[in-house]
Amino acid sequence: MQKKIIRFLKGANGFVSGEDISRAVNISRAAVWKHMEELRASGYEIEAVPHHGYRLVSQPDRLSALEVHDGLATKKFGAYIHHFDHIDSTMNEAFRLGDAGALEGTVVVAETQTKGRGRLGRHWSSPKGKGIYFSIILRPSCAPSDIAGITLLAAVAVSEAIEKKTGLKVLIKWPNDILYDGRKLCGILTELKAEIERVSFVCVGVGINVNTPASQLLPEATSLKNIKSEAFSRVELLQEVLKVLESRYRTAMKEGYAPVFKEWRSRSATLGRKVRFTDRGRSIEGTAFDLDKDGGLLVRLHSGEIIKRVAGDVLL
Ligand code: BTN
Repeated sequence: MQKKIIRFLKGANGFVSGEDISRAVNISRAAVWKHMEELRASGYEIEAVPHHGYRLVSQPDRLSALEVHDGLATKKFGAYIHHFDHIDSTMNEAFRLGDAGALEGTVVVAETQTKGRGRLGRHWSSPKGKGIYFSIILRPSCAPSDIAGITLLAAVAVSEAIEKKTGLKVLIKWPNDILYDGRKLCGILTELKAEIERVSFVCVGVGINVNTPASQLLPEATSLKNIKSEAFSRVELLQEVLKVLESRYRTAMKEGYAPVFKEWRSRSATLGRKVRFTDRGRSIEGTAFDLDKDGGLLVRLHSGEIIKRVAGDVLL
């Protein structure tokens, strides 16, 4: 109901009477008044003037379902949004929902996380209201070994969305760190619940530094605001990420990952670069030269030997 009222107020371009609202959304005047109070409590600034009615003055900069659904151009991704002011980690809640049978495309998003986690056990800093911190549940019918494709797919989709909304040309460091000018703008974490041969569900967690001020960023990180010296709408960026993610995912489920990998290669900060990593206690240095068909990183050592890196990180 509140969604309908907000949409009506946004479309009104000025004052609308309580009577018009009650007719448009089919509730009593008293119910309109009650919803207005609740909307104000959620951060909507709504002016009420006798004989004129109500006017939406401003909306909160929050990633609530009410805000994200208005203008979301997806079929399934984000159809269900669980929004939290604060949470330990959106991954934990997404896992809980996944276990309880939540539909594919269900999103958990938070304004801040107290225990945001990154890859390889790292912490993900989540300053309140500054970034986008969300997890989405996917239910691909594939084996656990095929999941690397989803990780790279998410990086491609988020890069495309950032580029569309900001004009910035960002690069991807294998497997899925999104960088600008060598500094990290976005991290993606893929976790899954699976049996030996079948994935039950996947949670893809995305953290984007959107309006994070320099004072709250690690030296090796950056944010969109830090780069462009302007603030960006987190709602619009999240809507775009969900749209591109859904489109890339649907194509990959029908046709495989080849189109995603092609795009990943063209955005890679890793291919053609010297890389270093540790493999079963052995320190390895070589040149990353391609992805293999499963999304693993192919590295040519100085000896000519070719090694495939399937998980972990590489140092550039
Ligand atoms: C990384 O680069 O190491 C991955 C970072 C992933 C961070 C996101 S923020 C939303 C989701 N919830 C988490 O706890 N982590 C992911």
